[in-house]
Amino acid sequence: MKKTINGLSVYLSGNNESKTILFVHGFPFDHTMWQKQVDELSKDYLCISYDIRGLGESPAGDGQYTMESFIDDLEMILDELKLDKPILCGLSMGGYISLRALERIKEKFSAAILCDTKSEADNNEGKLKRAAGIKRIIKEGLAPFAKDFITNCFGDDFKQSRKEELQKIIEKSSQFNPVGVKGSLLAMLSRTDTTISLSNIKLPTLIICGEQDALTPPSVMKDMFHRINKADFVEIPKAGHMAPIENPQMVNKAIRDFLVKNNL
Ligand code: MLT
Repeated sequence: MKKTINGLSVYLSGNNESKTILFVHGFPFDHTMWQKQVDELSKDYLCISYDIRGLGESPAGDGQYTMESFIDDLEMILDELKLDKPILCGLSMGGYISLRALERIKEKFSAAILCDTKSEADNNEGKLKRAAGIKRIIKEGLAPFAKDFITNCFGDDFKQSRKEELQKIIEKSSQFNPVGVKGSLLAMLSRTDTTISLSNIKLPTLIICGEQDALTPPSVMKDMFHRINKADFVEIPKAGHMAPIENPQMVNKAIRDFLVKNNL
């Protein structure tokens, strides 16, 4: 079922009476990156995913986003749907949103799943890369940026064996509104560093990282894992930065094992 909340496209799948998992996607993707997880987990959970403002089917508006406005959007969904302490599951930019939400509104969640993400803010080199990305989109349009960025997100196994799937993902993201994509880049560029708060996360937390993740590699995610009290770490074989798409069976198993272990 699709709902529109504060202009955002929100997708619900599964039983309303069940425990909820709220999925937050990465950049520059949309809610469908979680499809394989939703297909499996909606058998036992209410799975909610949404398109972050400016991406997928959620309108771009003025493109003036911050990580804070992304949390406001997330909170609006929680409140509007009256969600009772869902499990928060975010990948990469969705992980940045989740980590900041765990600082601002942690009492609203029962557990966290952090996939292929990091707590550090962009350093100067990272900020300049984002600025160059924005400049490139203005100059060349979205497609060349989307192709390069998205290709870099996937591991070698996926790139070699699932070329058509990769092409489809690139084509889809190339159709997004460039205003929204540039807005997300600005929000990521200006986000705060959440590393200091990792030791305050008391919720059961699962850290998932693709073994071939070049953007947020296992070494970075292991460091995050060591800073969180009640965390589990799972490295996903044959997967890069987009582990839930690249190796959904192993990601689904890791999530299921974590949920069972924590009686969720
Ligand atoms: C993502 O997958 O959301 C992006 O790689 C995040 C980023 O560019 O920092």
